[in-house]
Amino acid sequence: MSSVSDNQLANKSQAWSALFSEPMSDLVKRYTASVFFDKRLWKADIEGSLAHAEMLNAQGILGAEDHAAIQRGMAQIRSEIEAGQFEWKLDLEDVHLNIEARLTELVGIAGKRLHTGRSRNDQVATDVRLWLRGEIDELSVLLQALQSALVDVAEKNAEVILPGFTHLQVAQPVAFGHHLLAYVEMFARDAERLADARRRVNRLPLGAAALAGTSYPLDRERVAKTLGMEGVCQNSLDAVSDRDFAIEFAAAASLVMVHVSRLSEELILWMSQSFGFIDIADRFCTGSSIMPQKKNPDVPELARGKTGRVVGHLMGLITLMKGQPLAYNKDNQEDKEPLFDTVDTLKDTLRIFAEMAGGITVKPEAMERAALKGYATATDLADYLVKKGLAFRDAHEIVAHAVKTAIGSGLDLSQLPLAELQKFDARIGEDVFQVLSLRGSLEARNILGGTAPAQVRAQVARHRVRLG
Ligand code: ARG
Repeated sequence: MSSVSDNQLANKSQAWSALFSEPMSDLVKRYTASVFFDKRLWKADIEGSLAHAEMLNAQGILGAEDHAAIQRGMAQIRSEIEAGQFEWKLDLEDVHLNIEARLTELVGIAGKRLHTGRSRNDQVATDVRLWLRGEIDELSVLLQALQSALVDVAEKNAEVILPGFTHLQVAQPVAFGHHLLAYVEMFARDAERLADARRRVNRLPLGAAALAGTSYPLDRERVAKTLGMEGVCQNSLDAVSDRDFAIEFAAAASLVMVHVSRLSEELILWMSQSFGFIDIADRFCTGSSIMPQKKNPDVPELARGKTGRVVGHLMGLITLMKGQPLAYNKDNQEDKEPLFDTVDTLKDTLRIFAEMAGGITVKPEAMERAALKGYATATDLADYLVKKGLAFRDAHEIVAHAVKTAIGSGLDLSQLPLAELQKFDARIGEDVFQVLSLRGSLEARNILGGTAPAQVRAQVARHRVRLG
């Protein structure tokens, strides 16, 4: 049987050593440790600790000397980490215990006093929130940049005619700029969603301690203020246990990626030989090792693929939370890797798409040719007949016959002679050709949110004001 002092020696590095009669196995150590991924939270961990120590001092719980020692020690730790000289130890399990142990090594007893009125449970919840808040701010900037890049391309293409599709069948002509601005709307809503989620991320768990609050007279509002948080979590059990803020973020992130994946799919289609609507700059594409003629749109393809990865993280996080009893459970340590990877994937994707937008070459003739082939102005002919007094349903039927005839003779509607068109309805006059032109169709949709170039330019102007 081993003596108490042996055990203390064996578990020297662990924060709870005294109770345990045997050391942890190496496998369990590795299984339970998080330091090799959560060390990424180090800045937030130090920031949270400094705010906690400042409050402890202000409340008379921590002496001025101890407070100063903690500040000094933390400054040293910060520079060690920044210089890559900090020695992260698996034995110390996570970022929190690593930093605290080093602090105690550096400043002695003051380091041991830092954890007064605090638990790793409220500490980790605070760290993740602080870190995520910062990342959301960076993501917002990147989303803005992507929107601006798309607005630039949209403005240049306010007049360029693209066949608009429904069911991937040519439907009606739209301005290419209008099409791109649809994505700007999506990304604008994504930015709103992130900003909204941020409000709930930016609340303070510290003071909840392990789960029940603490008997020390902590000033939680003061810590929240120091950390620039919008409020204090109002129930200690909830504060340490729920990760809904992370799930909400992952959901907003998933939508960003879903939107990116839609744009990706279109870029891939448009660049294919069958469409030939655009080209993507070589620096975003790769070739094939066997087929010399190939140029592949790897970036949008990968982004489309990475959408699965981010949506997967959302599923992971939400499943992680399901059925967890109050309060903190170690399950929650599993929130970090999916969150980190979500942020990394999103940042890279947004950066690369903002750059790639400027590297798109538009081929207006190909787009226009495709619109002509698809009878994209058939609705315009029906609308024309309605203006001449027909009921829309009847007009629809008549135009269907006209389209059938045109297909039979391999012509566009606008290429049918007037006499031929008049066979479908005598009210058709010379003015029909204005309506049958792609440009006429576009110009006619001069309604708020419509595709007329004037409306596209109005949208561009509105986005420019919004994006600053
Ligand atoms: N590494 C832990 C996590 O990420 C920190 C909290 C640990 N708390 C505990 N009671 N074991 O969740």
